[in-house]
Amino acid sequence: MKKTTTVLAILLCAVLLVSLAACDDAGSAGKTSGPTGSTAGRESSPEPKQTEPESEPGEAAEPASAPPEPAASDSTILVVYFSRTGEQYTVGVIDKGNTAIVAEMIAEQTGADLFEVIPADDHYPMTYDELTDVAKREQNENARPAYAGSLPDLSRYDTVFIGSPVWWGDWPMILYTVFENNDFSGKKLIPFSTHEGSGLAGFDCKLATACPDSEILDGLAVRGNDTQNQQEQVRDSVNDWLAGLGY
Ligand SMILES: Cc1cc2nc3c(=O)[nH]c(=O)nc-3n(C[C@H](O)[C@H](O)[C@H](O)COP(=O)(O)O)c2cc1C
Repeated sequence: MKKTTTVLAILLCAVLLVSLAACDDAGSAGKTSGPTGSTAGRESSPEPKQTEPESEPGEAAEPASAPPEPAASDSTILVVYFSRTGEQYTVGVIDKGNTAIVAEMIAEQTGADLFEVIPADDHYPMTYDELTDVAKREQNENARPAYAGSLPDLSRYDTVFIGSPVWWGDWPMILYTVFENNDFSGKKLIPFSTHEGSGLAGFDCKLATACPDSEILDGLAVRGNDTQNQQEQVRDSVNDWLAGLGY
């Protein structure tokens, strides 16, 4: 526990130290419930390591009656989120991730479709201290961890909510894989975070940098602990925020 406290203290200090350096896009004002943090901007555009799915094995000779597409809703709103179970800060071991809870609330309120970003090779440890080490290493390496599957056909959606935990004052690196491997141009993108002090952590302006041809709307930051222990208050906040955005 001492190590956990030390890790978080270092982590939050780092977040505070860099918060002034990034997100100089003053026009992107997300709601935050804690200090905004971020890492320094990534000047270069690294080659995404995520690869396109292999060409469909076994699907070459398609019979006349192709299997039906999975039932698609007619929603024009998609919620893309990343979230971890296991041991998380202040909440112990959880079987539904904090961000997943918020993502589902957004989907329930808006009728949106949900897409969970799941690591292709789930190398993330289930213990908090180990997870912070792996996440820090990925950030230092500017990694682009691959995710399983593909987002649904984005042409169907005009609005995409994108949410994740704050990791070391930034989006987890796997989200940068998502930003770089998909075309969000012309869409409204709405970031949301769960965190334990960093608020939205500049998610909005980092998203604007990663997806310059999208419109970024005001984001929402929710305390991770509240998603587990104050769910009705969180739901009210989510619904108020959605109403303010016109959803
Ligand atoms: C690797 C890692 C790094 C984190 N970095 C931060 C941080 O910089 N600022 C912060 O407020 N919380 C930080 N946290 C806390 C998480 O953002 C918070 O617990 C979040 O709600 C977890 O969401 P999830 O259950 O959806 O994964 C970190 C947690 C982990 C595991």
